[in-house]
Amino acid sequence: MGLFGKELGIDLGTVNILICENGKVVLHEPTIAAVDIEMMKIVETGQAARDMEGRVPEMIQVMRPMRSGVIADFEITYEMLRYFVEKVTGSTRLFKPKLMVTVPYGVTSVESRAVHEAALQVGSREVYLIQEPMAAAIGVGLPISTPSGNLVVVMGGGVTQAAVLSMAGIVVADTARLGGLDLDDAIATYIRKKYGLVIGQRTAEVVKIRIGSAIPQEEEKSMEVQGQDQVTGLPRTVVIETSEVVEAIQETLQLQVVAVRNVLERTPPELASDIIDRGMVICGGGALLRGIDKWLTRETGVAAYLAEEPVTCNVIGASRALTMLDRLKRSLPVV
Ligand SMILES: Nc1ncnc2c1ncn2[C@@H]1O[C@H](COP(=O)(O)OP(=O)(O)OP(=O)(O)O)[C@@H](O)[C@H]1O
Ligand SMILES: [Mg+2]
Repeated sequence: MGLFGKELGIDLGTVNILICENGKVVLHEPTIAAVDIEMMKIVETGQAARDMEGRVPEMIQVMRPMRSGVIADFEITYEMLRYFVEKVTGSTRLFKPKLMVTVPYGVTSVESRAVHEAALQVGSREVYLIQEPMAAAIGVGLPISTPSGNLVVVMGGGVTQAAVLSMAGIVVADTARLGGLDLDDAIATYIRKKYGLVIGQRTAEVVKIRIGSAIPQEEEKSMEVQGQDQVTGLPRTVVIETSEVVEAIQETLQLQVVAVRNVLERTPPELASDIIDRGMVICGGGALLRGIDKWLTRETGVAAYLAEEPVTCNVIGASRALTMLDRLKRSLPVV
């Protein structure tokens, strides 16, 4: 702990929120709240709220307060953030924490100000924002302070970001406001069109994680998927195979890779040669999709490899950035 209280890195994502203290992840929860809409009050947050989905009376709504990497509902995001920060710092804290919070690259100043404001109101002494690809690069341990080019691709639940970093700053970057949730939607749409079966986002995500892949696999996996018949409304089961998931998600993956292509096109030649030599590193939960490294390599012509800890590297980087403020300050977003 610092002399004046805790120093925390926070990765405030569309699907997951993580908090890191001194390089250690101390909180990892879904960015979900269960809200009593009559009382306008949060009844549960995180995993407990997620578990309530579809099992609660009508006046309780289970919702995601973040959309495409930005705050969609300020009050709920703020309350949720306060609850999680207090869980880590203890509610009777004497010393206010210092926070470094991730925001996606390319959000508007209004959107980043909302994150800053929510983090300040939580009761922190100082709040810094950091662009997610920068946090990821620091978390992965890339030599971002040197004058060499490093390409990072962050595949989250709501956004896909690509950035070239050099000399502790972002040289070129781009964001596609699409992520893992859109892959889930694509799978649900595919199953509805092909089998007339309606499934929810959660089921679609399970299909993606269990049998999904970005590229065809030699060994096909399959699973039974339960849903509701589109015509009769009755429950029905179909068997889905890996190759069907591959087909279902191609179009959405193509929209995501636009961010990477745009960055490669705009990278200055000196840095481009570094990137061709070193390749790109993939972070975020989307890095866990089978074959995504091979898919990105094929689609961009630049070797892609997975970060060792793709899900936690962003928050570890945000936490580490608090110890590098002198070097980073001029490249952090100002609000
Ligand atoms: N094994 C897996 N295969 C495919 N996708 C996965 C796997 N595990 C997790 N994911 C996906 O990763 C996404 C969540 O990633 P992450 O936690 O990095 O997002 P986030 O930071 O909350 O979102 P964002 O940064 O876009 O706001 C989800 O869409 C989830 O389905
Ligand atoms: Mg993220």
